[in-house]
Amino acid sequence: MGWNSWCTDSLCNLLGKDPCSETLVKETADSIVSNGLDKLGYNYVALDDCWSDTKRDENGHLQPEAKKFPNGMKAVADYVHSKGLYFGLYTSVGDETCKGKRPGSLGHFVDDANTLTSWGVDMIKMDHCGRKNGTDPELYGAMSKALNATGRPVLFSLCNWGEDNVWEWGSSLAQMYRIQMDHLPFWKYGTNSSSAGVGYGQGTYDIIEWMATLQPSKWTKEFGWMDPDFLMTEYLTMDFISSRTEYTFWSLWSSPLLISTDLRKISKKKMEIISNEEVIAINQDSSNTGGDRVHKGGDGGQVWARDLQNGEKCVVLYNSGNGGKGKKAVTVAVTWDMIGWTATSTGAENVVVEVRDLWNKKTLGQFTGGYNATIDARDVQMLRVKKV
Ligand code: GLA
Repeated sequence: MGWNSWCTDSLCNLLGKDPCSETLVKETADSIVSNGLDKLGYNYVALDDCWSDTKRDENGHLQPEAKKFPNGMKAVADYVHSKGLYFGLYTSVGDETCKGKRPGSLGHFVDDANTLTSWGVDMIKMDHCGRKNGTDPELYGAMSKALNATGRPVLFSLCNWGEDNVWEWGSSLAQMYRIQMDHLPFWKYGTNSSSAGVGYGQGTYDIIEWMATLQPSKWTKEFGWMDPDFLMTEYLTMDFISSRTEYTFWSLWSSPLLISTDLRKISKKKMEIISNEEVIAINQDSSNTGGDRVHKGGDGGQVWARDLQNGEKCVVLYNSGNGGKGKKAVTVAVTWDMIGWTATSTGAENVVVEVRDLWNKKTLGQFTGGYNATIDARDVQMLRVKKV
């Protein structure tokens, strides 16, 4: 859980700005602490692309762009650590990063692992731009080895845009791995050929559909989390409902909750989405599994579910609107046998379950056989359910 700079003030590069500076990091770390987000688990402050100079230093080491980081990167890491937070940086597996022809790590894995960890970096995202001279498992494997050799605990974030079926091998090399092309702050955006990487498109709706295909429970494990990319909470292009739905699914999948919007000007509404302890508890549940789709109706209604460590489950009733623009509400119904709760002798229709609505923090009562609710397009009801 934490924050990443990439989409903060630039709509994930759609506006072309470089969202990155010492001031931005410091002010973001301050706002995480002053808003109490650290207490909720938001502990990483990570810079994405654009922090480095376009040239390595005279000894071939990576160096920050001096104008943006006048005191060097160790000073920035020290500041973040002084707030009790972890610091993250970015590099690419190829010879260039994705933006501005900055140096990638190809041919420098050991040196870059040493340089970044010597500054006190706790998390390294390795992007896919400029990839050559090997397969992804070989190249990311070499960086993983180089990081281990430094002796510093580092969270390795593997970002190969979901290529080469990364879900099958990513968790053997990294703690989190991107499962698709970049997420952009829209509900539905693009197609599977619109950007580098796999998936059905770049919007929240598209990612949810893609995750349904991948079946998160098959791959998700502790220190092997599927990364559907940054959260676009409450942009102009992502209204409150879409943002809350995005946060719901990322939590259901135990995926990294990396907010990539400006936390310095956090609104009450944005805070409401990212600070619900009961929702965060699902994301952080020690079962470390991901929720799967267990029902898809022709009207756009879907039911998703996952196990929780204490034997309860999380159920999400979701109205996808089939990706459309409309606001048409539909009734979404879960039956207890859909989520594997079938009374052996008497049948699912006799199973009694207590249902709690997590976004509204309200226990709705006990329901026999199943439960249903009317859900607006793009919206969800996120439930914690317990057999009585
Ligand atoms: C790629 C990545 C993004 C971001 C940008 C930075 O597109 O997938 O997450 O890191 O590069 O340039």
